[in-house]
This record gives sequence, C-alpha cells and structure tokens, in this order.
Amino acid sequence: MDTIVSLCKRRGFIFQSSEIYGGTGSCWDYGPLGVELKNNVKRAWWRDNVQLRADMVGLDASILMHAAVWKASGHLDHFTDPMVDCKGCQRRFRADKLDEGEWVHYCPATKGNKFMMPAGEPCKHCGAHRTLCPACGKGELTDARQFNLMFKTFMGPVEDDAAVTYLRPETAQGIFVNFDNILQAMRLKLPFGIAQIGKAFRNEITPGNFTFRTREFEQMEIEYFVMPGTDEEWHQRWIDERFAWYQEYGLRKENIRLREHEKDELAHYAKRTADIEYLFPMGWSELEGIANRTDYDLKQHSQFSGKTLDYFDEETKERVVPYVIEPSAGADRSALAFLVDAYHAEEVRGEKRVVLRFHPELAPLKIAVLPLLKKNSQIVETAQKICNDLRKRWYAVYDDTASIGRLYRRQDEIGTPFCVTVDVQTVGDGKSPADGKVTIRDRDTMQQIRVTMTALEATTADLMVGKWSEVAKQFPAQATS
Ligand code: GLY
Repeated sequence: MDTIVSLCKRRGFIFQSSEIYGGTGSCWDYGPLGVELKNNVKRAWWRDNVQLRADMVGLDASILMHAAVWKASGHLDHFTDPMVDCKGCQRRFRADKLDEGEWVHYCPATKGNKFMMPAGEPCKHCGAHRTLCPACGKGELTDARQFNLMFKTFMGPVEDDAAVTYLRPETAQGIFVNFDNILQAMRLKLPFGIAQIGKAFRNEITPGNFTFRTREFEQMEIEYFVMPGTDEEWHQRWIDERFAWYQEYGLRKENIRLREHEKDELAHYAKRTADIEYLFPMGWSELEGIANRTDYDLKQHSQFSGKTLDYFDEETKERVVPYVIEPSAGADRSALAFLVDAYHAEEVRGEKRVVLRFHPELAPLKIAVLPLLKKNSQIVETAQKICNDLRKRWYAVYDDTASIGRLYRRQDEIGTPFCVTVDVQTVGDGKSPADGKVTIRDRDTMQQIRVTMTALEATTADLMVGKWSEVAKQFPAQATS
C-alpha cells in the first residue's frame, strides 16, 4: 500500500486532505489524475447500470434529510459500533476489533519489559492474554458502549434538539423516500431500479488503509424493486452481474471473490447479503455489498410518514409492497481496487518500468501526443494540432518536456493507454517528403504501429475498444520501446 500511496501523491492521484496543516484523519483529496480515474469509474457504472438498462432510472437526492428518516430507517437505533475507551491514555477502540491488532504488553515475568505482541497471541513468558489497552499497555478499558456512526449536525441557525439532523450514512434512504415520486413520474413497472451516486458519511472509530475506509466517502447504489417472492432470484442475478462487472473493467479473477454474510453480521434490514471482496494490500476487503433488504425500508417509511408506499399490480389488481435488492458499491474503494490491480513493476531492457494497466475506459488520460524533436517547429506544431483535435473526443495531453523514452515511461506510470509520436518522417525534411504518418504506441505491449494522420481518430476509436491486433494488421508494426 505504501508504494501505491506514494505513487498517488507523486503523480497527482490522491493527496492527504489539509496536508499543509498536518492532515486530517482519514480524509483524502483526489488530484488531477485521481478525479479523472474516479469519474471514469462512476461514469462506467452509470452507463452500464442506468443508460444501458431500460429498467433503471437515476436520482441525485440531497445529503441532508428530515431527521425522521433516520428514525424510520433504523439508523438512529441500530447503526452503531460497540466501543471501549482506555481509562489511561483515553484512546477509543471498537470492542469487536480489540484483538485484531498488535498489543503492547509489560511482562511481569521479565521485570516488566515492554513487548509488542502479535494480534491475539498470549505472552510466551507469562502466558497472559491482553486485558488492558492494546495501545498503551497500561490503562484499563471501560465496558463496551454503543456509539452511533452518524455525523450529527444542526439545520438552521438554532442549535437545539429540534434542529438536529444527520449527514446521510447511506445514499439509499434518498431513494426510498422518493420511491413514490419516481414511480408516479416515470410510470414504472416492477421490476425496476433507481440508481444514485453520492457522498455518505460515517464517523468510523478506526478509519484507515488509505482511501479504503474513510469518514466521508462516495457510494454507487442501486435499489432494485421486485415482486415479493422473486427477490431471491433477483438477488442472485445481481450478485452475478456485479461480480462480472469488476472483471470486465480489469480486476483479475484471482483477486476478487464473493463472501456470504454470517447471520450475526447482517445489517438490521437485510435478509441475505453477499459481499464482493478484493484482495487489497491489507487483505481481502469489501468492495460492494449486495443485500436483500426485503420490504423493510418501504414499510418503515410508510409507517413513520403515514404515506402509502406500495405498487399497484395491474395483473392481480392488488397492492403490494415491493422487495428491494441493493447492490451498494464504494466509488473510492472501486477506484482504489482498479488502481492496485493495474499496478505492475517490471524490467524492460535492464530498466525498471512501472506501469498502470488500466482498462482504457478507466485510465485518467487516454492519449499523450509527443514530439520526437522539440526543436523542430513543424513537428511541435503538428503534434499540438493533433492533440487539440483528439482532445475534442478523449482526454489527450501534449508533452515535450523530456526525451521520448522518458516521456513514454511517465505515461506508463499513470496508465495512459496510447502515445502518439510525431517525428521527422511525419512532417518531412529537405531530404525526404512528409509521409503524413504518426506512430501509435501501446502502453502494455510497447508495440508500435504507424498510422496516417487522416486515419488517426478512427484508429484511436478502435484501439480504445481493444482492437489493437486488428488495427495492427492494417498498419505496419515498428520496434517496441
Ligand atoms: N446502503 C448500504 C450501505 O450503505 O452499506
């Protein structure tokens, strides 16, 4: 993870929030390349789940909602973690995670020597297990208390109980409370889904692992409403579909798996949940949870608001409360997983090459246009013109600040799928006429082809959808570099 964090900072993907003030715990800012990557992940998700599906519509609900939403949803009463405090150093821990990390031990059998003990293991000198604070090794811990993970805030100028509300801990509730609005406005028939991308907030006791667990994060959620009785089948369909989606955009099969929730870890609303997990540097961790939320949320909101939230079935002429399947993905986690999976360090002709093998749809930049000689004004002008033309369709950049070899390596390191190089042959010189062709280099194989400028846009479009070998048959190959 350290390698990824350092690459992210150096190349402008992700910075620590408020770094010049020493940073804030668990908050991160997406830099120029990071915002492109994350936007591309969100765009691909939206296109595949909303634009390409006739049974799905979108929503962008507000983050601040009526406080009653959180009573009805169960978050006020149940969205808690058990927490203990150290009476000595005042640190706070999740009671259920206390023995998952190393612990400090002052061993009575060795004159009180200090040891760092591995997670969950007893001391081999005195046999003691951890009972005191794992961080300071001295303080006693309080009994566990439930700690609500929602961020409390006040709406309006008066900070009294009537003004209390919460930053949403999930985007899902914005969908449930708009169920009837959307049903009526869009004349939908079951089964149908409502999709939303947006920020959510959780006051995690132990955030960490870079952008994996943060207190402010972005969700990509679908609430898919189905006829009761068809929910289990739809649940499985969504699990399979979402599992395939991550692989379609490049996550390697061996790095992703499904994990079924145990009964005692199910959220208060869920009948069954399966997590899609990714093998992050810190181990297998959740990318997306796919839950069967039954009719829990619609019924709760109906009861608390006094409004009917159901569906009239034209066939049976009966009113039913739909069941809900919820594929809930983390945009930050997905972006991190795609980044980690794309990272490769390899040796090319005795030199180390770092390359991010992003799927072209996810790559922050799509094309770099590079002049072979920056002193040749014709080459430079041609390259700049090509870049400006390509920019209308893809995120393209022009760079002439180093030698060609170094420029290629820079683009490899940020995952740009294709580089276009303009050289003397392109523009011609006193000895030979211009051939009007440019070189296109593939990031992963480093193979090159030579393409006429007039065919560049159409060729690039083919390359972006993975047609390198077809295109290469049409155009002569060059040496790799
Ligand atoms: N909506 C499910 C979750 O936020 O975990």
